[in-house]
Amino acid sequence: MGFCSPVCKILRRGKYFVLLILSLSVLAWIATFSGETVKSVLVSSATTQALVKEVTLRDKLNSWTAAPDRVNTQPLKTECPEKSPLLQGALNLSFESSLKLKDVEGDNKDVNEGEYEPSDCMARQSIAILIPHRNRERHLLYLLHHLHPFLQRQQLHYAVYVIQQAGDATFNRAKLLNVGYLEALKDYSWECFIFHDVDLVPENDHNLYMCDKQPKHLVVGRNATGYKLRYKGYFGGVTAMTKEQFLQVNGFSNIYWGWGGEDDDLRIRVELQKMKIVRPPAQVARYTMVFHKRDSGNEINKDRMKLLGRTPHVWRKDGLNSCSYKTLSVERLPLYVNVTVDIGKPQS
Ligand SMILES: *[C@@H]1O[C@H](CO)[C@@H](O)[C@H](O)[C@H]1NC(C)=O
Ligand SMILES: *[C@@H]1O[C@H](CO)[C@@H](O)[C@H](O)[C@H]1NC(C)=O
Ligand SMILES: *[C@@H]1O[C@H](CO)[C@@H](O)[C@H](O)[C@H]1NC(C)=O
Repeated sequence: MGFCSPVCKILRRGKYFVLLILSLSVLAWIATFSGETVKSVLVSSATTQALVKEVTLRDKLNSWTAAPDRVNTQPLKTECPEKSPLLQGALNLSFESSLKLKDVEGDNKDVNEGEYEPSDCMARQSIAILIPHRNRERHLLYLLHHLHPFLQRQQLHYAVYVIQQAGDATFNRAKLLNVGYLEALKDYSWECFIFHDVDLVPENDHNLYMCDKQPKHLVVGRNATGYKLRYKGYFGGVTAMTKEQFLQVNGFSNIYWGWGGEDDDLRIRVELQKMKIVRPPAQVARYTMVFHKRDSGNEINKDRMKLLGRTPHVWRKDGLNSCSYKTLSVERLPLYVNVTVDIGKPQS
């Protein structure tokens, strides 16, 4: 008896202990399971990854929009209609010399760090607009003035990136656009990219800034050319490619310094992949080209024909996968993100 009693005591106490643990775990189970039922049952090893991805994307979006309670308090939005009810068609564009950046900011209060998203429906695509830039502040202002309301009428989720070439080496539009693609993807997983010259302003909002199953060329006509395609196969000015299409052609070439050729090079890359360039109808794909003289630092590239002949042999090695640059600053301004980069200079 004397020998058993400590053991029996422990056993007896143990019974209560087990009971306590059991009831506690039932409580804990109820607490975690209510509301999470579906999720925890569904989370198999295969879906875990997808869920994690979704969560990090949403986190990113939250931090981007800088309106912490916006995403959480809103009921689920339905997808925006296929045709936006806000479209107006052909517009009279104005280019007032008195226009100021402050005015344009005041007109676009819903744009935050260059980004916008419709408040009442879920946009059909997320688009990054990439604008290569140097010394064209006036043109940029006119473009922002027209482009922001234009894109909002199209009910898109978008952000505007200005890719500023630092220094005064010869301009390289194509390499700046490669940089823009790589840098914009650090912010968000954009589905569609619009490569946009700073001096072309769209005249008709039926010209949709969305990507297609094939690479899309948006500038059929401009006032400077009597609204005709500059030449058959022209693929410059403003183009739209999905994230995957652009990756598939290894982006632009990095070796076109000065004016011309890089857009034809991109067309060759697209054709080598057996993709087909599509264009909106001529009556909507119209642009006004704001007048300017050729900039110094962007002289005609005399080597462009020679380079174009080599494209089929070098495209795999010259492009996104070989684009080296140094980001000098990223300024998140109200109407655009200014990515300033050192992209080097032409090799002699
Ligand atoms: C655009 O301007 C022209 C000439 O000033 C005018 O005839 C036309 O009605 C205007 N169109 C719109 C949509 O405001
Ligand atoms: C096209 O329109 C813009 C803006 O009105 C003007 O600056 C430019 O000179 C025009 N170009 C031609 C060739 O008419
Ligand atoms: C972008 O930032 C650089 C560096 O601060 C500045 O020199 C340049 O003027 C800016 N460009 C634009 C278009 O804001």
